[in-house]
Amino acid sequence: MAVISVSFLDSLPLSSLLLLLLFCVVLWLRSFAGSSSSYGPKMHPVIGCLVPFYRNRHRLLDWYTELLASSPTQTIVIGRFGARRTVVTANPNNVEHVLRTNFPNYPKGEAFTDILGDLLGCGIFNADGQLWHTQRKLASHEFTTKSLREFVVETLESEAEERLLPILASACADRRAVDVQDLLRRFAFDTICKVSLGTNPCYLDASLPESELANAFEVASGISARRGAAPMAAVWKLKRAFDVGSERRLRGAVKLIHESIMELIRTRKTEMEKGTEHNDLLTRLISGGHSEEVIRDMVISFVMAGRDTTSAALTWFFWLISRRPDVEAEIVDEVKRFKGRLSYQELKDMKVLEACLCESMRMYPPVAWDSKHAAGSDELPDGTRIKKGDRVTYFPYGMGRMERLWGNNCREFDHRRWLSEHGEVVRASPYKFPVFQAGPRVCLGKEMAFAQMKYIAAAVLGRFELRRDHRHSRPPVFVPLLTAHMAGGLQMVVEKRKGEGAQSSESY
Ligand code: HEM
Repeated sequence: MAVISVSFLDSLPLSSLLLLLLFCVVLWLRSFAGSSSSYGPKMHPVIGCLVPFYRNRHRLLDWYTELLASSPTQTIVIGRFGARRTVVTANPNNVEHVLRTNFPNYPKGEAFTDILGDLLGCGIFNADGQLWHTQRKLASHEFTTKSLREFVVETLESEAEERLLPILASACADRRAVDVQDLLRRFAFDTICKVSLGTNPCYLDASLPESELANAFEVASGISARRGAAPMAAVWKLKRAFDVGSERRLRGAVKLIHESIMELIRTRKTEMEKGTEHNDLLTRLISGGHSEEVIRDMVISFVMAGRDTTSAALTWFFWLISRRPDVEAEIVDEVKRFKGRLSYQELKDMKVLEACLCESMRMYPPVAWDSKHAAGSDELPDGTRIKKGDRVTYFPYGMGRMERLWGNNCREFDHRRWLSEHGEVVRASPYKFPVFQAGPRVCLGKEMAFAQMKYIAAAVLGRFELRRDHRHSRPPVFVPLLTAHMAGGLQMVVEKRKGEGAQSSESY
């Protein structure tokens, strides 16, 4: 357009000018949509789908799900004024293409790494390219050792027996409702700190002052998540430049986290010199001779990754199970077959429980959507064209609600879909069920997450019955953010489990 000279335009009749204008608009619209085979909300010139997007802003998950269900390719293109072109897909072939086949073309990208960069530095969760590759090799080596696994189970055992179960027993004795989501988040924070840092902040212990480190993580992750949800990145960047408001609070929280972990690294080094033994990730990284900054960033990434995910999954699990006494009875039946201390292998052998956890994460995935940013142009297997810089979002929440993937009972809880007739767990393709992501960047804590969720579910359901507090009987609301949570928490009444399957809760 810029090269068309004014004198040339002057010489054209009005009708030709209008035609030229129309042609340009059509070209622009096509470039917005990316390809003739893309689907999604109706696009208008200039504003794209801004109006329906705004109307649905409080129910984006369900709006996207509806659009995806009616798209023949299970992929939609969202283009709106002022925002990056976004391709959202619930098509497993596309998901595989983005997460594995053409992995190098789909990094997280600066749009994402900028948001978490102040907190996570160069940690694995926030790195791309060679930096990510080096960290991944290092982390997968250190995180999958047998001794770390054993340490995880020991940590779960002491945290559950000494803190979580006594809290539930006391709520049961006082006939008091508890916020199960809050308890699970505190439990997860203590556990991930013990495994990653070798220290227990005792966030779950109400008799102690609140952990400063835990609060700093709360503040830092909350503000970072809001950066991600802001309509324009320029706003938070400006606030950061002037060090005001939420950005000032974020800077304070990040400073506290960085300093606390640096101090921990130095103390641990001294202890190691004296010969004290530790099994956590931090100690392993120190033994590996890595720099203090690399170790700091690595363990912060682990704390962030393992902090809210398992608690989000378990919150929805406990809510779903409380509505299905038949399924709860099946789980209790399975749990009672494992007597005494639970080992890593025994946790692996809990098949019904695993099926129920997969089913609840299918319906309520802790990471509801996750985006990559195209490094170059490409075409997805379903024909959707991708342009350099596009955001490409795979969408576990919507995928769990696609009839084409899970059948027409996809909105019902049916753990049987994960079990063979012999009671073995039937694993779904990770591209159809990308709850832990998939491909080279698949979640590193998946096994640990299952061990943790099974341990808690078995320990709690073996001894207690959790029932929804009738004063809070409205359907819970799923809030996506960085990690999904239940709006307002999950208030539940705790009762001692009765009947044959029950384990003793007297000692708490
Ligand atoms: C139910 C629990 C969990 C779910 C659903 C889950 C899901 C995910 C997802 C979707 C990602 C990809 C995120 C992205 O790239 O933006 C991821 C990455 C990761 N997760 Fe998990 N996660 C869980 C628990 C854990 C736990 C307990 C840990 C650690 C102790 C952990 C460690 C990690 C790490 C280190 C990464 C980064 C991997 C990489 O970028 O190479 N996760 N997880």
